[in-house]
Amino acid sequence: MVEPSRWSLMIQQDPDHSRRYIDRFKIMAMNGHDLLGEARTVDAMAPRGGKILDAGCGPGRLDGHLHALGHTVVGIDVDPALIAAAEEDYPGPRYVVGDLAEMDLTEHGIEDKFDVIVSAGNVIGFLAPSTRVEVLRRFGTHLADEGRAIIGFGAGRGYEFSDFFADVETAGLRLDLALESWDLRPFTAESTFLVAICTKA
Ligand SMILES: C[S@@+](CC[C@H](N)C(=O)[O-])C[C@H]1O[C@@H](n2cnc3c(N)ncnc32)[C@H](O)[C@@H]1O
Repeated sequence: MVEPSRWSLMIQQDPDHSRRYIDRFKIMAMNGHDLLGEARTVDAMAPRGGKILDAGCGPGRLDGHLHALGHTVVGIDVDPALIAAAEEDYPGPRYVVGDLAEMDLTEHGIEDKFDVIVSAGNVIGFLAPSTRVEVLRRFGTHLADEGRAIIGFGAGRGYEFSDFFADVETAGLRLDLALESWDLRPFTAESTFLVAICTKA
């Protein structure tokens, strides 16, 4: 058993949290918010009909879109309520309940490696600190040889960007590109958000 993520602790303390989170995104979608920015970047990184893993997929807002574009999409998330919502609202991709720190998709019959692993929406910021390197290492074991992981999270969530860069190396990944937004603006010393593209070292 691994140290639980901050998200798991939050839903233990507040069982309605997941429902509010699901509803918030539904309302944003109804109000015309653009919820697909990350998916557009991922689509640009993937071959046509690519294999995409959404690590910490939540209620599946990226997965339905990527599936509709013809990719084979797997979403994994530790929150069963969010996975149930993804299955209902964005059918098509394969969804799995699981902690990224213990992820082994072969246990679910998923043998293929991924062209792109995406972790959007601060998933990485919710990880228990003791699991960070292990999660990144498992991203590496699930990537195809030429595959890339794209990971986005904000400052001020207890995971310093400098620590993340060090963890990437420890986990056997290489930072290929650091950006400050999903629309590809360069990362600088003043950036308050990081979008990191990593490959296997
Ligand atoms: C803010 S939500 C983002 C959801 C989705 N990526 C998005 O952008 O819409 C953070 C997600 O990270 C998931 N998460 C946090 N820690 C996790 C872990 N250790 N393993 C799997 N999922 C995790 C949560 O369950 C939650 O769905």
